[in-house]
Amino acid sequence: MGPLAALRRDHRLLISVLDTLEQWIPRLAQGANPAHLARFARFLRAFLENWHQPKEEQVLIATLEREGRYDTELSDLVTKDHEELRALLREATLLSDDIVAANDARIERAAAVLLQVASLLRHHIEFEETVVFPIAEGELPAGVMPQLERSLRAMELDPRRSFLAAPLKQVASALLQLQACA
Ligand SMILES: [Fe+2]
Ligand SMILES: [Fe+2]
Repeated sequence: MGPLAALRRDHRLLISVLDTLEQWIPRLAQGANPAHLARFARFLRAFLENWHQPKEEQVLIATLEREGRYDTELSDLVTKDHEELRALLREATLLSDDIVAANDARIERAAAVLLQVASLLRHHIEFEETVVFPIAEGELPAGVMPQLERSLRAMELDPRRSFLAAPLKQVASALLQLQACA
């Protein structure tokens, strides 16, 4: 998958979790445990804020900007989506806090915010994979790509972040199981 493999791998995992989320949410009306809403919200927030977005912002976007291969408008679009996703996920985690004791209106609101996250995140991933990644792969000087790949890897191995990898993977696998319970 090339130098951006780490980011594409994150995207594949996110899409699987979003598929599960969108299939699971209608089951709330049939009595599914709303506690899972909080698990989806907390996973998506942690994965994006602490694992995926820092790699894009601090490595990919920073490299494109430094090399002059990225106009401000595109960079702003990515940053704007990231900020919007962070705001929605903050709202979703707040709404789903102690969700088992929440009234129906709060459960519905938390579900609606998570569906908004799913829709925005799907569009955002498509934008990155069809516009941003091809710019990096097509326009960055050949010598820059191996360094970019090393920097992405270094961020994943950074002790301030690496401890998150296993728990995030574990929570994602547990959430994906919800699809099997259909
Ligand atoms: Fe992104
Ligand atoms: Fe991304």
